[in-house]
Amino acid sequence: MEDLFAEDLKGLRARSLDRHLREITVAQGPEVEIGGRRLVNFSSNDYLGLANDRRLRKAATSAIDEFGVGAGASRLITGNLSPHLSLERALAKWKRTKASLCFSSGYAAALGTIPALVGKDDVILLDKLCHASLIDGAKLSGAVLRVFPHNHVGKLESHLEWANREHPGERVLIITESVFSMDGDRAPLRELIELKKRFGALVLLDEAHAVGVIGPNGRGLAAAENVSEEVDVQMGTLSKALGASGGYICGARTLIEWLINRARSFIYSTAPPPAIAAAALAAIDFLASPEGEERRLLLWKRIRLMQQLLPAAGLKGEGVAARSAIFPWIVGDEQATLDLASALQSDGFLVPAIRYPTVAKGAARLRITVTAAHEEAQIEALCETIKRRGR
Ligand SMILES: Cc1ncc(COP(=O)(O)O)c(C=O)c1O
Repeated sequence: MEDLFAEDLKGLRARSLDRHLREITVAQGPEVEIGGRRLVNFSSNDYLGLANDRRLRKAATSAIDEFGVGAGASRLITGNLSPHLSLERALAKWKRTKASLCFSSGYAAALGTIPALVGKDDVILLDKLCHASLIDGAKLSGAVLRVFPHNHVGKLESHLEWANREHPGERVLIITESVFSMDGDRAPLRELIELKKRFGALVLLDEAHAVGVIGPNGRGLAAAENVSEEVDVQMGTLSKALGASGGYICGARTLIEWLINRARSFIYSTAPPPAIAAAALAAIDFLASPEGEERRLLLWKRIRLMQQLLPAAGLKGEGVAARSAIFPWIVGDEQATLDLASALQSDGFLVPAIRYPTVAKGAARLRITVTAAHEEAQIEALCETIKRRGR
């Protein structure tokens, strides 16, 4: 076994594509500790600083006192506990949909949901920059898969024409993200909705990096664009701005009932720990409150500061106003990106390199994320260092 992968690993190393785990020895926050050294963390998805928030911690510990640690079984057997149902009711209310269903992760939500929606005679039209979970769910479904160039509405339209012509009467599912995870830009949602209505297709929108960040009370891009009703399947995760863990689907009651019956990652997996559901519920309660909205507006203040101070030349979408909390600093070469990340780390900043296959070969980058928990001075210091280390 030792030797079996040694050559493969050597190959990865030769191409600067090998990956390693780093041990973080404190709770998530704007600063973390690695090997006894404090680093300012500019790579977390904890956009609102909730992962270690006292309200979430308290909700989780109270739920542990009442319900214990493990759920003991899948939701459909004996693992369906009150915190799961309270969370789903709150999610549906917050997203203003009829119902919702939680999964143990966003990845599991995609993997279970997409194959439940479409099968081998159906068609999936997927944005080229969609997250791995959506790609894997699409492949698993066995549907005919066509990828359209990133945010290219014209190409999507011609794929829809093709699907109607070649697969008449079959289901056509458009899959995209509100905010693209490695690029930080947004889908042209209104135009997509126009198309889906014109062609009678369905839309699955992954709001992973938009919830908590965009729209009134952080309800996401569909809410911000006032098209929630038209998005058939609203997917998201509780693991990023909501500071907890788990994935969800919001939508019609029949959709949720269908998923309970058909989504294999939901049916054949132990229910998420009740304490995590309780923590996620506390996060939703917070987001829906005036204090939560204030925190979200503070995040946008930090986003604007980052945009103002980061040298525009390295940024993808240079000159365009920031559309999310994600700033892709494109370096290109994999080794050069690793070197820059390591130089930043020696200056006290944690911004790991993002490389193939997460992004295309030769499009390696630092994916800088800003959170509401960052101090202005931390953002200023990072931008100064990037200017100095520059390219
Ligand atoms: C766009 C997108 N969708 C889905 C996921 C998966 O969510 P989770 O981390 O909860 O599995 C992620 C993040 O990992 C993501 O970036």
